[in-house]
Amino acid sequence: MSTLHITGGARLSGEVRISGAKNAATKELVAALLTDEPVTLTNVPDIGDTAVTIDMLRALGALVERRGDAVTVTASGMTSPEVTEAFSRKNRIPILLFGPLLSRFREARIPALGGCNIGARPVDFHLAALRSMGADIVCANGMYEARIPEGKRLKGTVIDLPFPSVGATENIMLAAVLAKGITTIQNAAIEPEILDLAKLLQSMGAIISLDVNRSWVIEGVDVLHGASHRVIPDRIEAASFAAAAALIGSDVRIRDAEQGDMLSFLNALRRVGVRFEIEADGIRVFRAETIKPTTLETDVHPGFMTDWQQPFVMLLTQANGVSIVHETVYENRFGYTEALNNMGANITVHQKCLGEKACRYKHRNEPHSAVIVGPTPLHAAVIDIPDLRAGFSYLIAALIADGTSVISGIEHIERGYENIIEKLKGLGAKIEKGE
Ligand code: EPU
Repeated sequence: MSTLHITGGARLSGEVRISGAKNAATKELVAALLTDEPVTLTNVPDIGDTAVTIDMLRALGALVERRGDAVTVTASGMTSPEVTEAFSRKNRIPILLFGPLLSRFREARIPALGGCNIGARPVDFHLAALRSMGADIVCANGMYEARIPEGKRLKGTVIDLPFPSVGATENIMLAAVLAKGITTIQNAAIEPEILDLAKLLQSMGAIISLDVNRSWVIEGVDVLHGASHRVIPDRIEAASFAAAAALIGSDVRIRDAEQGDMLSFLNALRRVGVRFEIEADGIRVFRAETIKPTTLETDVHPGFMTDWQQPFVMLLTQANGVSIVHETVYENRFGYTEALNNMGANITVHQKCLGEKACRYKHRNEPHSAVIVGPTPLHAAVIDIPDLRAGFSYLIAALIADGTSVISGIEHIERGYENIIEKLKGLGAKIEKGE
């Protein structure tokens, strides 16, 4: 297992280009299975999660060719309705295969993501929605087995999601485009990555629209065709670099960062006193002399994304005073702060809702609010990365810390950030891969 050696203190400057969005590209690769004709996606990031998704498509019998940032999927030769166990714990994508597999084979076998017991990150919304569209789904031996009764196809219906889940919304869309009749998804997720998926589906021949009050309306069609589509830039990667730039960048140009997809992040940056300039093809972020403390609540789009929380908390460790962050999307997304505290940060995690948004975790004993007291100088440490977004905040911590940190678990970062070492080096970071 290789490690990263990062020596803190170097100022970042210059330009970094943001890659295509992981959370759009992986879903769009799956959407390509809805037609026999070739679908070409460009700006597909070369990261762990797209590699695993491509392997999964190939294992199902699809032909997948990558040339640079372009990936062409031809699904006409698909042979199997089963995603094997080998893909069960690699990422969240297998659960999205129900629609494409059911419309092609009338059956699907998909490994449970983390077991059938409803625990953290459950898929109950997905299953309830697909059942209401006519799929019989049972869970046996760690596999979901879905079937459409003989002579039937999935049928459109009205689905009211208990929470605007990104994955459940995408799953229903992928099933609804080829279902019989109209499907309405109420209280749906409307993240930019989902809009991007809708754009691809429309290019493939789907009839899909975003209606008032976060509702998607999808009129099923009989067949979809091939298309070409450019994946949107990754707004999580853009925000991660912006947070790093605000702390240690003299002037960093984040090329391809989309202002419109990052409004709430940019508002938060401005509130804490970080200067940025919007340019025609990106956003320039300048180092803040003084960072002001703030209060922040994560939310579904158009709110402040839960995936921006970790780099932003990192930024707040250097703010002049007490900041509060209320995480309302996931019940337990502050575990990573312990390692930051070991480096010198002062972050306490609380079970109370420290915010005013309606939150599903009220009185649920979930550690979902954080109080961050800054500024605290950080010192280098030996750190193991537990997950993707925590990973980037550790990189930022090491970049501002005194001394050389040794970081393991970099495969988590490489799941979602393309060429991360080269990109940081290109900005002047002192970062080396070691054993
Ligand atoms: N939820 C349920 N039941 C369900 C589905 C979701 O209770 O059936 C809950 C979840 O437990 C969570 C909330 O609803 O508390 C939101 O989950 P959502 O379904 O929206 O998340 P997801 O689709 O599993 C995607 C991204 C995440 C991102 C979230 C929220 C992908 C592959 N993952 O996850 O990204 O945090 O949406 O925006 O698109 C990441 O990129 O690092 C990452 C974790």
